[in-house]
Amino acid sequence: MHKNYLTSPSPHIYGSFNPPLNISVMASGNGSNFEAIIDAINHKKLQANISCLIVNNHSCYARTRAENHNINCVIHDHRDYSSREDLDDAIIRTFKTFGTEIVVMAGWMRIVSHKLIKEFPNRIINIHPSLLPSFKGKDAINQALDANVKITGCSAHIVTEQLDSGKLIIQSAVPILDIDNKESLSNKIKLQEHIILPNAISIIGESIRGSKN
Ligand code: GRF
Repeated sequence: MHKNYLTSPSPHIYGSFNPPLNISVMASGNGSNFEAIIDAINHKKLQANISCLIVNNHSCYARTRAENHNINCVIHDHRDYSSREDLDDAIIRTFKTFGTEIVVMAGWMRIVSHKLIKEFPNRIINIHPSLLPSFKGKDAINQALDANVKITGCSAHIVTEQLDSGKLIIQSAVPILDIDNKESLSNKIKLQEHIILPNAISIIGESIRGSKN
């Protein structure tokens, strides 16, 4: 059982959604956050269907996770598009095909353009491994270690055109101990990400569906 550090708001309360929320996930790598969303759905905490996963790397493990769970996976490799906008046009077409209500960037390592943000206003969620607004951008865990802070954590927030700057949805604090290194801290933060990300989806679901669900 993992330790539950300080999380706000409480991650244990989920909304009820009928029909279930239609979410799509974007991932570039391992996909452990994607799997955490699947788990929250399978354990009947989060009432949602993942209609598709979009990946930009053919060999990423997130793709294998989608196959294991019979979830549609669409590859949009950024190297095949001449601009961010062209890539986002293709992504938007995919989301429209699947009737996506909420987009979850779960380790999507690309900056998205205004096109995607305009198409899903206040409906794109990102998970970031720091207590924003501290340590935006790449390598947030090393940034925290280098700054010698004693508490870091993770943030689920709305995606806007400014990197890692949109409205915060939920955060979780993780202490940094003297014995921590990048790997141990990263593992502790991941555990918290896996708790708050499904909860953030529910919070945004409630805000777009209204509280009567
Ligand atoms: C997470 O640490 C997340 O904060 C960052 O990318 C990482 C993705 O990890 N945006 P995973 O692929 O979900 O394991």
